[in-house]
Amino acid sequence: MAFKIGLLGLGTVGTGTVQILLDTNGRHPLLQGLSLHRVGVRSLSKPRQVELPETLLTTDLEEIVTDPNVDIVVELIGGLEPARSLILKAISHGKHVVTANKAVISRYADEIFTAANEKGVYVMLEAAVGGGIPVIQPLKQSLGANRIHRIMGIVNGTTNYILTRMQLEGVDFSEVLAIAQELGYAEADPTADVDGLDAADKIAILASLGFGGRIKLSEVYCEGIRNINASDISYADRLGFVIKLLAIASRDSQATAENDLLSIRVHPTLVPKAHPLASINDVYNAILIEGEPIGQVMFFGPGAGAGPTASAVVSDILNIAAVLNSPLSGEVHPLMSCTHQHYCNLA
Ligand code: NDP
Ligand code: HSE
Repeated sequence: MAFKIGLLGLGTVGTGTVQILLDTNGRHPLLQGLSLHRVGVRSLSKPRQVELPETLLTTDLEEIVTDPNVDIVVELIGGLEPARSLILKAISHGKHVVTANKAVISRYADEIFTAANEKGVYVMLEAAVGGGIPVIQPLKQSLGANRIHRIMGIVNGTTNYILTRMQLEGVDFSEVLAIAQELGYAEADPTADVDGLDAADKIAILASLGFGGRIKLSEVYCEGIRNINASDISYADRLGFVIKLLAIASRDSQATAENDLLSIRVHPTLVPKAHPLASINDVYNAILIEGEPIGQVMFFGPGAGAGPTASAVVSDILNIAAVLNSPLSGEVHPLMSCTHQHYCNLA
């Protein structure tokens, strides 16, 4: 079966995604059944890093999400609006959706997954947390047998890049931020990275999946790295620590079925040099998950950037294509999609 993709956004991640879709040799065979139908952008005159027929590009994103020929909408424009409305419109027109947009998912998951479940379509978000690291699907599927106690990690590539360069080279904060922006790691508004808001979105999503409830962002304590300076890093170093921006979601040991006590927070943390998270440098992310009976598992890899993030986006497209191609297809597979229940069954 062939599937047509309507891509919203041709920036860092959109470009990486197109590069994979246009160069299928040696990759998963299902990629050959995927075709890029339309690509939505803000400016038609902007120079692009990929060559596409001009007729593919449009600034009318509504036309893409309502196009009867489009099977899968891939939302890579970022920000809250029009991303949220376009995702909802795509769903209402029966499209499956792949998104890397943690800001929209952390705020509107309830609305989006309710609509998707009603319509019987998939919404996939592997790229929304950890860039190229497969963590969403493993948390929902492979770790499904576990009672999750804690999810803790480095989930923002930009701030980890900044802290690493400050630590190893003594470079100035603003200088490193500019490099992270050039490398395509930072959000359109990098305050989301620097002030911990992007990490808060991500840990809210992981906590919703891991603990099975809807986490309000207002319940996530959030402190960024703006006030960390060279002397903080140097004192930490002398005491045997590195400073990392950690995102942590933990279930209190006193929690009961009636009173599920969760603590969710993002803040700079003194991490002992011998701890596995201490050696995660630059744009790399790592997510340590503790559960019973598995104990600890750690997911590690590039947390941002065009290629790694596109790898996660295309893996979601492939998962949808694989399920739609399966003879059992016909209803949404509960382990494939994030469901309304993932976000709503906590008291
Ligand atoms: P970019 O800013 O590089 O690209 C955004 C793209 O969307 C551009 O092509 C832009 O068009 C288009 N666009 C934005 N707003 C509109 C609009 N209103 N109408 C039409 N087109 C629009 O973003 P990224 O690729 O970096 O990020 C995309 C998403 O992926 C975000 O949700 C981000 O959080 C997420 N993400 C990013 C990662 C990264 O490493 N960069 C990693 C993981 C997730 P034009 O080109 O014409 O300006
Ligand atoms: N700005 C984000 C980061 C992109 O630096 O981690 C990946 O989600």
